Amino acid sequence: MEMINVALPKGRLGEKVYDMFEKSGFPCPSIKEPNRKLIFENEAAGVRYFWVKPSDVAIYVERGAADIGVAGKDILLEYEPDVYELLDLNLGKCRMAVAAKKDFRDDPNSTLRVATKFTNIASRYYAEKCRDIDIIKLNGSIEIAPILGLSDVIVDIVETGKTLLENDLEPKETILPISARLIANKSSYKFKNELIERVRLGLKEQVKTDD
Ligand code: PRP
Repeated sequence: MEMINVALPKGRLGEKVYDMFEKSGFPCPSIKEPNRKLIFENEAAGVRYFWVKPSDVAIYVERGAADIGVAGKDILLEYEPDVYELLDLNLGKCRMAVAAKKDFRDDPNSTLRVATKFTNIASRYYAEKCRDIDIIKLNGSIEIAPILGLSDVIVDIVETGKTLLENDLEPKETILPISARLIANKSSYKFKNELIERVRLGLKEQVKTDD
């Protein structure tokens, strides 16, 4: 039987996504066992799941190690992997924003120092505004940069806004809304089309709209 290989983002979002896959007819009960395994398979249902770091899902799918997966729009925009985006799951919702200290006033005549993990998203955003910037690539705890004077602003994900608030920063501009997307490897989409379409339609029925 043909198997479908699915890369799921490790963590709370991934667990919700797995539940949606289960309800779509692709159950794999062993995934719920409390252990540290990363690969789970249900041959009878024709499915194999991998838990991977959320920011790595697109790499597995682009290179065909997974046929499909679920990745944040932030990762898709930042790395532009060569994959198909099949469905917005309307989960993991947040936004990419510019934030700074409350009293920050932008001086358009000086180069803006921007700390971020998302250097491509930030560069494109400021290029569109013809704003001259100096990008400082960080890997985490971005909120510290403006406090220590390493940068003027940050470009980062804001979900509840709590992290900003507790670090005396505030959102200044929204760049983009973000949510989780179903993605597919391009050749898998061709050769396992029926199976992948079954997944997509099954998931689509469960997507909750915001009302
Ligand atoms: C993100 C982001 C912020 C935080 C925002 O980090 O970098 O630090 O979430 O959430 P809030 O608005 O609800 O406070 P994440 O937890 O994804 O981990 P990371 O530090 O590895 O990026």
